[in-house]
Amino acid sequence: MIASCIPRRLAPSPAPWAELGREATPVAPLDEAWVRRWLVRQCAGADPVLDIGCGSGDLAAALARRGHRVTGIDQDGAQLAQARQRHAALEVQWLRDDAERLAHLPRATFAAATLVFVLHHLRRPPSGLAAAWRALAPGGRLLVAEMLPKGPNANDACHQIQLKQWLAWLGALRPAGMRLTAPPSQEWVLARLSKRA
Ligand SMILES: C[S@@+](CC[C@H](N)C(=O)[O-])C[C@H]1O[C@@H](n2cnc3c(N)ncnc32)[C@H](O)[C@@H]1O
Repeated sequence: MIASCIPRRLAPSPAPWAELGREATPVAPLDEAWVRRWLVRQCAGADPVLDIGCGSGDLAAALARRGHRVTGIDQDGAQLAQARQRHAALEVQWLRDDAERLAHLPRATFAAATLVFVLHHLRRPPSGLAAAWRALAPGGRLLVAEMLPKGPNANDACHQIQLKQWLAWLGALRPAGMRLTAPPSQEWVLARLSKRA
């Protein structure tokens, strides 16, 4: 599946997940506010920033308030309408697009892209990763936040993707540089992937 969805040059061989797991660093406390702060910190100095699957736009807005030029995309028009309304005072570009294709965005443009609790909604998560990667400029960073089965939404079928699977998908991008943090309780996957300049 990965081989067909990730650009060939990014997919030599996924690193064994056990090897990636050894890079895991405990983070705490495990809450969404902490994750949001982590994301904002990881975007420091990046401009412009793309928030993929932005929902009602809170992360995009937080980034815009810190001076980033931000584009928020979502496939759901109602979510975008809410984002526009909630953050009308901010200059954020809101666009309707499919995260698996990002057909309405230029390639190799963004200094950072975020995928926050979005990949598990996609029919083909590796396609979402590949599309985000294409949107990044050289030297850009891709930030991924996801939940694991032991997390707060453990009963939700779409949150049942196992750490091993996440690590395999993310591992396909590892040759381009990747830093992964995961809490000891394994409730979250937090990953920062850097695209070589
Ligand atoms: C759980 S919400 C997360 C929203 C936001 N990132 C956050 O952390 O609050 C998932 C979002 O992904 C969007 N989404 C799902 N599939 C999508 C796709 N194929 N393309 C673009 N957005 C998508 C949904 O419309 C929804 O707004």
